[in-house]
Amino acid sequence: MMHRDIEQILYTEEELRRRVRDLGAQINADYAGRKPLLASVLRGSFIFMADLTRAIDLDVTVDFMVVSSYGAGTVSSGQVEIKKDLSDSIEGRDLIIVEDILDSGNTLYYLMEVLRARKPASIRICTLMDKPERRTKPITADYVGFTIPDAFIVGYGLDYDEKYRNLPYVGVLKPSVYGK
Ligand code: IMP
Ligand code: MG
Repeated sequence: MMHRDIEQILYTEEELRRRVRDLGAQINADYAGRKPLLASVLRGSFIFMADLTRAIDLDVTVDFMVVSSYGAGTVSSGQVEIKKDLSDSIEGRDLIIVEDILDSGNTLYYLMEVLRARKPASIRICTLMDKPERRTKPITADYVGFTIPDAFIVGYGLDYDEKYRNLPYVGVLKPSVYGK
């Protein structure tokens, strides 16, 4: 059953499951013999993070951070603020940043700068969704679940105004919901 605020289902539960499994397999191969630290950027990536972590068969550790979000808008303000930092040191670690969506790139551009200064052995970005058309900062992800066109999507952890995170699929939100 589709939620009445969803215009179209982009990726079903099954499609998400399969793609996340593929990403996990890729990370397994790339990091064989190493112990990567998965750092999830909350809140949007919490479901992706949980599934991706279980698709990785290495000695991984996990950590979480919270950065400022859009609030009730659909366009990034360009201002990024760390509301909750990682709990552990990343120095010398193979860091994989786990994001829900790479959109304008503002958030990750800023985060990369901050995290690089802490001297991890390596940093890569793993994002579930990539909207390259919207990019205003020179940043690309190393692992991309799906490359999508410019539409506002929700579900599988992604929200609009803190709603719809619990939808098991990823769908396009009806513009009338935020158009007002
Ligand atoms: P950026 O800083 O513009 O790259 O935006 C990154 C953040 O904006 C993502 O991590 C999401 O939390 C949020 N975001 C961007 N596009 C969407 C969308 O279509 N649906 C829900 N959240 C989005
Ligand atoms: Mg996010």
